Amino acid sequence: MYINLSGLNVLVTGASRGIGKALATKLAEAGATIAVHYNKNVREAEELAHILGNESKAFQADFSKADEAAKLFDRVSLEMGSIEIVINNAGLAVSADINDKDEEWIKSWNRTMMVNLDAAAIICKKAIQHFMSRKVSGRIINIASRAAFRGEEAHYMAYAASKAGLVSLTKTIARSHGKDGVKAFVIAPGFVRTDMSQEFMQKYGENHAKGDLALERLTEPKDIAPLVTFIASGMADHATGATFDVNAGSYLH
Ligand SMILES: NC(=O)c1ccc[n+]([C@@H]2O[C@H](COP(=O)([O-])OP(=O)(O)OC[C@H]3O[C@@H](n4cnc5c(N)ncnc54)[C@H](OP(=O)(O)O)[C@@H]3O)[C@@H](O)[C@H]2O)c1
Repeated sequence: MYINLSGLNVLVTGASRGIGKALATKLAEAGATIAVHYNKNVREAEELAHILGNESKAFQADFSKADEAAKLFDRVSLEMGSIEIVINNAGLAVSADINDKDEEWIKSWNRTMMVNLDAAAIICKKAIQHFMSRKVSGRIINIASRAAFRGEEAHYMAYAASKAGLVSLTKTIARSHGKDGVKAFVIAPGFVRTDMSQEFMQKYGENHAKGDLALERLTEPKDIAPLVTFIASGMADHATGATFDVNAGSYLH
């Protein structure tokens, strides 16, 4: 099977490192032009856009600030002309203890929701409008988490809740805009070896992360990228609304 995405523009949020970087790389290998979104890691993002080629470009936005996600979408569509595929991947996992002061706890909650859910939601809204106005057969791929379905450790309540929100947002888009040509999918990874999971593993230990896997090794970003590239190609369009679990079989334990 040959996947050719040339001529398609893809916005990948959080593409400066980790899973997003692997997704951008695989999509560009298939010929797509990538809008490499980043927040702080400007050098990595610009280097990546250069390596990816296909006229890919880096775009900055801090999703913990109101309006930045919407403005990002506008900038990307203005510079690239049209966007056919959106991948909401940027995210953070903020640890909060139940004994934190209420103000601190709610601050962590709000920051998590803004980056993981609110930014993705406004980008979805703008993408749907963009697809419909240009009669583009658009695809949205939202990177949620296994945590949306089975919860998370006590310190990551907001994280799990944000990812559950992302799942129902995606399903609603799939069922309500399918006839407008919009397809929406969820990827729900388990532990993936990135900076984000590193912090978690430092706290709980690598064995905790590996304990319930059916496979030998922890999932890496490169294990997710081929599936996302396949979905981006349109060959999985009749799975719109579906969640693809990529968790090394950890649901089976
Ligand atoms: N790793 C896992 O075990 C795992 C498991 C399930 C789901 N996921 C999900 O997969 C996605 C990618 O995770 P990852 O492990 O690759 O994370 P990561 O290595 O920590 O990378 C996070 C990415 O998100 C961007 N980002 C962080 N804060 C941001 C903000 N305030 N505004 C805009 N962008 C921001 C970062 O940009 P800069 O680097 O430029 O600051 C970076 O590109 C996340 O949505 C995560 O929840 C991860």
